[in-house]
Amino acid sequence: MTLTSVDAAILFDHVTFARGPERLFSDLSLCLSERRIGLLGDNGAGKSTFLRLTNGLLAPHSGRVLVDGIDTALDSAAAMRKVGFVFQNPDHQIVFPTVLEEVAFGFRARGSSAAHSCEQAIRALAQHGCAHWKDAGVHELSDGQRQRLCIVSVVALEPDILVMDEPFASLDLPTRLGLSNMLATLPQRMLIASHDLDLLAGLDRVIWLQDGAIREDGPPTDVLPQYKEAAIANRRHEDFFP
Ligand SMILES: Nc1ncnc2c1ncn2[C@@H]1O[C@H](COP(=O)(O)OP(=O)(O)O)[C@@H](O)[C@H]1O
Ligand SMILES: [Mg+2]
Repeated sequence: MTLTSVDAAILFDHVTFARGPERLFSDLSLCLSERRIGLLGDNGAGKSTFLRLTNGLLAPHSGRVLVDGIDTALDSAAAMRKVGFVFQNPDHQIVFPTVLEEVAFGFRARGSSAAHSCEQAIRALAQHGCAHWKDAGVHELSDGQRQRLCIVSVVALEPDILVMDEPFASLDLPTRLGLSNMLATLPQRMLIASHDLDLLAGLDRVIWLQDGAIREDGPPTDVLPQYKEAAIANRRHEDFFP
């Protein structure tokens, strides 16, 4: 089987990517076809860069990234339609002052009229239990609600795959549990970078990145205990009193 024969997948085909003078990924090849995949790794391991390569936000310096057969470097617009991307910080994603404008924008960008994109946005908000936010200003929403808005805005456009960069990083436990429940109801395939080991434990596959290389890759029951063991061995003693 050649890599390109796998359709419903994100493929990294001998990908090399440098950040400044440093090579972050060297000749990285892997096939992401499971329904729910987690990406784990310490700060600076390369998770956000890896995610940005999946939909053409970044292009590999050599090699290819294919999304269901589409080369992200050749057709990033098509890749972005297939792969919806939720940024780590909602404030980096939200552009508009009101919820309705924010959700409607994606439909406008796909060619809907102003009136139709508002109808589509209202329907999408209702589908995700947020109809009552329609006229709210985004600044009125809590951190968790803003994150939910980001997910709804992306899912509204019906991508095949949802890529999320540490979606729960700054959220309290009840909010995380609420969003986890919401994600569990979505039909999309998902690739989620996270440090939340409980979230990762419920996924089909976990990839542990370390310094741009794959340290472990397999079911969470295999990968998470190894990651925890390594984290304990390497734990940092922050020096608060220099
Ligand atoms: N825009 C950038 N320019 C240069 N180096 C970057 C940039 N973004 C990230 N890096 C570097 O690339 C490496 C991987 O970063 P990143 O993908 O953000 O890791 P993670 O998301 O796992 O914390 C780090 O060494 C980081 O400093
Ligand atoms: Mg990151």
